[in-house]
Amino acid sequence: MHNLGQDFLTDSLFIPHGHCYLWKPSLVWLNIISDSLIALVYYSIPIALVYFVHKRKDFPFKWILLLFGAFIVSCGTTHLMDVWTLWHPTYWLSTFIKCITAIISLYTAIALLPIIPQAIALPSPAQLEAANSQLKLTLKELENTQAQLIQTEKMSSLGQLVAGIAHEINNPVSFIDGNVFIVNEYTKNLFNLIALYQEGDRHLPLKIKAYIEEIDLDFIQEDLPKILSSIKMGANRISKLVLSLRNFSRLDEAEKKEVDIHEGLDSTLLILQNRLETEGNYPDIQIIKQYGNLPKIECYPGQLNQVFMNILNNSIDTLKESGIGCNLSVVKLKITNNQELINYNPQIRICTEVLDTNQVIIRITDNGCGMTEEITRKIFDPFFTTKPVGSGTGLGMSISYQIINKHGGQIKCISVPLQGTEFIIQIPIQIKSI
Ligand SMILES: Nc1ncnc2c1ncn2[C@@H]1O[C@H](COP(=O)(O)OP(=O)(O)OP(=O)(O)O)[C@@H](O)[C@H]1O
Ligand SMILES: [Mg+2]
Repeated sequence: MHNLGQDFLTDSLFIPHGHCYLWKPSLVWLNIISDSLIALVYYSIPIALVYFVHKRKDFPFKWILLLFGAFIVSCGTTHLMDVWTLWHPTYWLSTFIKCITAIISLYTAIALLPIIPQAIALPSPAQLEAANSQLKLTLKELENTQAQLIQTEKMSSLGQLVAGIAHEINNPVSFIDGNVFIVNEYTKNLFNLIALYQEGDRHLPLKIKAYIEEIDLDFIQEDLPKILSSIKMGANRISKLVLSLRNFSRLDEAEKKEVDIHEGLDSTLLILQNRLETEGNYPDIQIIKQYGNLPKIECYPGQLNQVFMNILNNSIDTLKESGIGCNLSVVKLKITNNQELINYNPQIRICTEVLDTNQVIIRITDNGCGMTEEITRKIFDPFFTTKPVGSGTGLGMSISYQIINKHGGQIKCISVPLQGTEFIIQIPIQIKSI
């Protein structure tokens, strides 16, 4: 045992390996350089493997990589020993290291065999890529469906609310509208009666004369018909509003129908009327209608109104933002400089025209903040919004896109920062497919 230990570390029994090369300097150096380089590379590979295992903790065959590392380190050490034994013939030590290398490599080879089928079964990067794209597609579809559901729900609640209110207002308004005429007739009769009394008896009791003066009967006779006619006008206006509200909700028209889309635009504007009036010193939003002579359009009227609503709402948002101060410095000037503010005239222009025998075009343009090219590219993406959390869902435009698509039409957006935005909707007069 003692001898073996001595043999391990002494070099007296053997001659150095350099003798085999006859100490030819070129041969010795070539061996030194080659073995050292091999050892260096062999030591660096395990560092890379350990780093990989450390970073990819989820990698399934970590231990085999570590075994490879140990195997390569021991191989590298045998090469270092080859350099050492050129001068120091510690062949027992170098043989022992080779022996360890043999054991590790044998163990690695045996351990590798059973994991080869498992490794083959692992999905290839191409398969993973395909699965990933499939998942992305499904996710996009899900997002679209979710967006549609949320928006449909929103619009259907709004539609129901509007239809409910319209229905509730309709009854009392028809009482007023129907009775105001009768009240007018009755008051005329009553005034005639009073006139007859006054003619018949010139000596009215003092008490009555005083009362006639107190209430200013002449003025009442003159003013009451005017009041009644303004009540009649008011009732007429409410009836028209009710009609517009019903037009807007069009709950009864889930099926496609031939409609005048100007009615849809007008009733949507009516719903948004209170948003067009701005607060403070800012000028109200002006609506400029340039309606062409359109035929009736076959469409899903409720859904088309939803598109108008989404676009107009966005335009109003941007115009209000411009009035209060866009994030964009030039528009800020509009409010910091009073003169500019006076000149700032928020507008929404709605133009409609027949494009050809098959199609019509609706352009909705605002002179608001506009959008950068990057934002314009994204506006039809579901959930894309630049509005603060809670104030925009980012669904309006993506739903509008889907609705116009469903009508076999196209919707485009052209926007110039600080100048405004134009939405161009092109839809067929006769819907082709659902
Ligand atoms: N007329 C416009 N002027 C400037 N930006 C606009 C205009 N229309 C749309 N945008 C931009 O496009 C984004 C997406 O609009 P979209 O209507 O889809 O969502 P939203 O208005 O943010 O939220 P909501 O779902 O409540 O409508 C908006 O956040 C806004 O940045
Ligand atoms: Mg919107």
